[in-house]
Amino acid sequence: MAAQSILVTGGAGYIGSHTVLQLLSGGYKAVVVDNLDNASAVALDRVKELAADAAKNLVFHRVDLRDKPALEKIFAQTKFDAVIHFAGLKAVGESVQKPLLYFNNNLTGTITLLEVMAAHGCKNLVFSSSATVYGWPKEVPCTEEFPLSAANPYGRTKLFIEEICRDVHRADSEWKIILLRYFNPVGAHPSGHIGEDPRGIPNNLMPYVQQVAVGRRPHLTVFGNDYKTKDGTGVRDYIHVVDLADGHIAALRKLSDPKIGCEVYNLGTGKGTSVLEMVTAFEKASGKKIPLVMAGRRPGDAEIVYASTEKAEKELNWKAKFGIEEMCRDQWNWASKNPYGYESQDGAK
Ligand code: NAD
Ligand code: UFG
Repeated sequence: MAAQSILVTGGAGYIGSHTVLQLLSGGYKAVVVDNLDNASAVALDRVKELAADAAKNLVFHRVDLRDKPALEKIFAQTKFDAVIHFAGLKAVGESVQKPLLYFNNNLTGTITLLEVMAAHGCKNLVFSSSATVYGWPKEVPCTEEFPLSAANPYGRTKLFIEEICRDVHRADSEWKIILLRYFNPVGAHPSGHIGEDPRGIPNNLMPYVQQVAVGRRPHLTVFGNDYKTKDGTGVRDYIHVVDLADGHIAALRKLSDPKIGCEVYNLGTGKGTSVLEMVTAFEKASGKKIPLVMAGRRPGDAEIVYASTEKAEKELNWKAKFGIEEMCRDQWNWASKNPYGYESQDGAK
């Protein structure tokens, strides 16, 4: 059977680059479309090195998804079996300051992509949604049937895109769409050659912890220690990025199920870990002390969020393999080899 060709939007980013590597290792061909707004082309060079012989199956186009003629050209060159759609802006705080930027980029980008896919007869899609659509869940674990809400414009883009996908499938049942709700992706490829490299001050816990460990920041600010949790700090479902990447391969396989329509799956581990537990695990893995400063709650943060993993286990035949020890080990391996991310060679960042 000929190798399947997959278009990966946002494939130079954190989750995208790890997924492209798993695709290449799994015998797929990958065409990446990314405007590099929040990524470095070095990530894909590293993916090629890691992929060895399969590197020939990776093509990269520096293109913005909203550039319809450029996207048309890419679809005219290759007949894609499916699209994995990661491309989007994801900083919650920035989305509150610049809602139109987020609606334009995330919604217009997605609509343009869906239009071009339909025009070229490619109606198989895997989309990056988020556990943010559960808002502050009334109970845990979160199942896919929970009511949805959004606390900020970023979250609203995820909600709207999910609804757009459901409508697109309702209007044309040839579409097969899998919406993946990620919980908290952390860690890096075990090689330490690819990982997360946020621009500016990190918004998320583990990239921040990592920058404290390499001496780029003096301490971690803990947002809230008065939650009703085991130690007062927020609880989340951290998932190793390689497990998450494998979840996409499982979703691609599921797209060939004739019964699939527009379906949603959580990708998490089903385990809740507090901020302090995560910091302790990272200190153990790195041998570094992370100084802490306790502060008030961050607006919009939920208390406890973790996934019900039953549906993905049963229907995608996928289950996360790694625990927080491996997540912290691999995060530190990446951080210690690349203290300034992909620009570590010249320390320019
Ligand atoms: P990322 O920023 O590393 O990757 C997104 C990529 O999309 C970047 O490489 C960026 O340059 C590219 N991009 C953005 N807008 C584009 C456009 N208009 N045209 C072309 N390329 C564009 O983020 P990530 O952590 O890898 O996240 C990937 C997806 O998963 C995003 O949709 C994000 O919202 C979603 N997600 C992430 C998390 C998380 O915590 N990392 C959690 C839930 C969902
Ligand atoms: N936290 C701190 N200090 C920091 C950063 C975070 O104490 O400097 C705490 C938060 O208060 C929270 C936990 O660490 O309790 C995790 O925070 P993150 O920002 O890492 O993750 P969130 O769960 O808040 O949100 C992330 C993404 C969202 C996504 C969501 C679910 O930022 O986009 O996971 O996937 F929607």
